[in-house]
Amino acid sequence: MENLQKKVVLITGGGTGIGKATASAFIKKGATVVITGRRQAVLEQTTQELGTQSYAIAGDVSKNGEPSRIIEEVISKFGRLDVLVNNAGTGSMGPLSETTDEVIESIYRTNVFAPLALIREATTHLAKNKGAVINISSVTSSGLMPGVAAYASSKAAVDHATRLLAAELGPMGIRVNAVAPGLTDTDITADVKSNEQMLGMIISQTPMGRLGEPKDIANAVLLFADNRAGWITGQCVQAGGGYLL
Ligand SMILES: NC(=O)c1ccc[n+]([C@@H]2O[C@H](COP(=O)([O-])OP(=O)(O)OC[C@H]3O[C@@H](n4cnc5c(N)ncnc54)[C@H](OP(=O)(O)O)[C@@H]3O)[C@@H](O)[C@H]2O)c1
Repeated sequence: MENLQKKVVLITGGGTGIGKATASAFIKKGATVVITGRRQAVLEQTTQELGTQSYAIAGDVSKNGEPSRIIEEVISKFGRLDVLVNNAGTGSMGPLSETTDEVIESIYRTNVFAPLALIREATTHLAKNKGAVINISSVTSSGLMPGVAAYASSKAAVDHATRLLAAELGPMGIRVNAVAPGLTDTDITADVKSNEQMLGMIISQTPMGRLGEPKDIANAVLLFADNRAGWITGQCVQAGGGYLL
């Protein structure tokens, strides 16, 4: 793995779970990492743990104007952006008949609008450094699972945007890829983890026979960020121990 010293990485939702593990992995390679999230106290706690190579920007990426404000702050503070990890995400479980307008809108705003707006605002800065975008999708984007229509379809939109933007931004030297985690041990999966039957079923259908750890996903993100992946773009790769293959 190349040394990432002098590289600046922006990770949305970097205060917890997969984003936090990814921030830690980039920092170990020498990068400076900016994390975002809505909860200031969570971000403060995480930057304390991550140390001086981390910096936090509080904000809600699902709101108009916030993606551009966040990118502007990264540039005014560090003068460059090399890697954008669109990790902030939200979801809900339950039949569509019980899914409110507010929930659908929040899922699509956070999971689809925010990555698109962040990539748009970051493009000129990433182009200067032949940078990379890594979108965090989900194995549900291509699997057939009842009860996650809003979430899974939003992640399918992320996958297709990944391919479309790889084509659009490739001529500027920017690579765009996606990592699609399987069930991973974070806050977002609290409901599934507390349902022993469902957890057992998912693990039994996972060839690697366990739940994912945030660092499993962080390692996959780092592979795509590495210059040695410089000929790989437009790919959506599952990191789920073989679940839903
Ligand atoms: N864990 C899994 O099994 C799994 C599987 C497939 C895909 N994923 C994807 O992995 C990504 C990370 O999730 P995770 O598992 O690490 O769960 P998590 O710990 O709950 O992380 C989600 C992060 O996103 C931030 N966030 C949510 N909405 C936001 C908004 N509107 N503006 C800014 N930040 C926002 C949250 O911070 P605040 O609440 O402070 O804003 C939180 O730090 C998500 O995109 C998720 O869909 C996870």
